[in-house]
Amino acid sequence: KILILDFGSQYTQLIARSVREANVYCEIIPYSKSFEFEGNLKGIILSGSPFSVNDENAPVIGVKDLLDQVPVLGICYGAQLSTRLFGGRVEKSSKREYGRAQMQAREAGDPLLKTVEPKSQVWMSHGDSILELPAGFEVLATTESIPVAAFKYNGAAHPLYGLQFHPEVYHSIEGKKILKNFLTDICGCSQDWTPAHFVTDTVNALREQIGDRKVIMALSGGVDSTVAATLIHKAIGDRLYGIFVDNGVLRKDEFEQVLETYKQLGLNIKGVDAKALFYKELKDNPDPETKRKIIGRLFIEVFQDEANQLTGIDFLGQGTIYPDVIESVSVHGPSVTIKSHHNVGGLPEKMHLSLVEPLRFLFKDEVRKVGRELGISSELIDRHPFPGPGLAIRILGEVTEEKVKLLQEADAIYINALKENGLYATVWQAGTILLPVKSVGVMGDERTYEYTVALRAVTSVDGMTADWAHLPYDFLANVSNEICNNVRGINRVVYDISSKPPATIEWE
Ligand code: XMP
Repeated sequence: KILILDFGSQYTQLIARSVREANVYCEIIPYSKSFEFEGNLKGIILSGSPFSVNDENAPVIGVKDLLDQVPVLGICYGAQLSTRLFGGRVEKSSKREYGRAQMQAREAGDPLLKTVEPKSQVWMSHGDSILELPAGFEVLATTESIPVAAFKYNGAAHPLYGLQFHPEVYHSIEGKKILKNFLTDICGCSQDWTPAHFVTDTVNALREQIGDRKVIMALSGGVDSTVAATLIHKAIGDRLYGIFVDNGVLRKDEFEQVLETYKQLGLNIKGVDAKALFYKELKDNPDPETKRKIIGRLFIEVFQDEANQLTGIDFLGQGTIYPDVIESVSVHGPSVTIKSHHNVGGLPEKMHLSLVEPLRFLFKDEVRKVGRELGISSELIDRHPFPGPGLAIRILGEVTEEKVKLLQEADAIYINALKENGLYATVWQAGTILLPVKSVGVMGDERTYEYTVALRAVTSVDGMTADWAHLPYDFLANVSNEICNNVRGINRVVYDISSKPPATIEWE
């Protein structure tokens, strides 16, 4: 495996995903955390950082000690830090470089730049530059504005490489190739981190962990919990007891459809209709955070009730994925809570269960690949994300059963239209929001006074930032007509053209 030491760069997770894409397993840890040089550790990558190596409190790590053990690749800050530690000069240069640059490789073919074009577009993001390399270091590539875009040092037990640009980002055209060269030719990694291997290894590990005991798990119909449950089921069969709760704020027909999918996958899942309970408690509670809390609390209560009816359960299965568990290097202090996200945290301590989390080390795109490997339908694998509190945070203000029905109908029309027009996969998330205002309209000769819905569709990579999707006008016109003509109670449709920031994806 490869270890990525994180110095707080916004791109650290992208480095890890690029390494995994080359079918090499890697983990991210904060630079300050200690670790063992186990036999399977083949190389180390040092990330970028918001710091300058010349800052007084700049993070430092003993690169020379690392080189006694394995090859090292420094990216941006990682490259500058290595240079500094060996006595080179890194300074704020008069020319800063952000964005596109042309990398010009030197003649001699080094394994790092094997089959990379002599001139190749790379992506830069740095204020400091390496102005002088230490003795024994060799320039591998330059750009028009900086003397050192890539370097190598061969004077230690293992080679040290440095890149001023970011090979992990999409716009560094041959970045993935450069990373792959480092992983295979320099570190000697075999590219065997594949979905098929993962499934075999994980199922074996789960059998070992669980033995002949039982696992209970809450499923949501989403990708993560479905893939996790399918893996656990493959390992222990019907000793996995799944619970799927209808909280009354799922999409139209979702409860029945998802249960049917689980049945086809052979999973042992119980559907629990708790709609009435949720509607009762949501009544008279218009505040978004209160709604989230109510839904989170009731969900735990319902789940616990179900668990109490089973005996001899030792484990709780969860669809936790890697981005939820990576320890982050905080450089800007603690962040404020914009929205509290509902999850099943807190369950294990109360219930005295140990956790089973087969996806704990996977990124979302890897979860999808594993899901396909397991034969789960693309209908489920490629679903848009859907928030835990469901339609409750898409009905602004108080939630009632009638409003849920209205929104379900409108939303089904919109989502089906996206699918029928081949647009569903082009957006990251789409949904319909029921606004708490009524407005005047005219249908036939009648005056109407009904609700408005907003359509939302965004493009995004991780939901952290998003842009509104530029859906075709004709498509929006058709959806608007279809909703107003078919959903009694709605006479107006608007399209949300706000990006995140300043807006958020959900309206609550
Ligand atoms: P926002 O609205 O914060 O949403 O831009 C970003 C992503 O998070 C989802 N989201 C939630 N997911 N519980 C969840 O499980 C929540 O309370 C919640 N609020 C927002 C949202 O759907 C989007 O994918």
